[in-house]
Amino acid sequence: MNRDDKKASDSSGAIGVWPRRDFLKGVGLAAGAAATTSASAATASQPAEQSSVTPTQREITLTINKQKVTQPIDNRTTLVDLLREHLAMTGTKKGCDHGTCGACTVHVNGQRVLSCLTLAATIDGADVTTIEGLAQGDELHPMQEAFLRCDGYQCGYCTPGQIMSGVACIEEGHASGSAEETREWMSGNLCRCSAYPNILAAVRQTSGAEPAGDPAEQTS
Ligand code: FES
Ligand code: FES
Repeated sequence: MNRDDKKASDSSGAIGVWPRRDFLKGVGLAAGAAATTSASAATASQPAEQSSVTPTQREITLTINKQKVTQPIDNRTTLVDLLREHLAMTGTKKGCDHGTCGACTVHVNGQRVLSCLTLAATIDGADVTTIEGLAQGDELHPMQEAFLRCDGYQCGYCTPGQIMSGVACIEEGHASGSAEETREWMSGNLCRCSAYPNILAAVRQTSGAEPAGDPAEQTS
């Protein structure tokens, strides 16, 4: 009698009446049989699984900064991920990824949207403008010029979103009334560096609500 069989025969439990080595062998065989059964079941149900996977993929076509782009995507891909991860357009920033910071703001069909909350599949065929599409060649957009002139950024992480929101704010008619109104309509764009006075000045100078110039010089 070997050591395993002796231990087993000393025991009063179920294992005790079935030598340990045989028990383990039995368990192994049972597990193998179960695996074979579930593998067969998986093979039998394969067509059903495939059909549940295939519809999560689709191909979409967007016009991004005047260029037509056709891209296969997973249905769950957000617009910010499509831009940054699939198309390597990293000008659009991902801050919170929850719709609260505005860093990911782009224009879709002329309206500002939070690209982290926009599923790319839902805007198939749309016209998208990102920060990369504002300048005309080497000529910056007037809002970009104003941000430079007004020193409207520090680390710059929020800046693409601020600029895209600022351009939309003017087009919506919210940047030529009171400063409070402009501030309110830019409030969805957060700046952790607190460059708010200079951002506001840049937006209002671009709209013509305030004269162009360095805000630091204008207040001194
Ligand atoms: Fe979209 Fe913050 S990353 S709102
Ligand atoms: Fe740094 Fe706005 S400039 S977050």
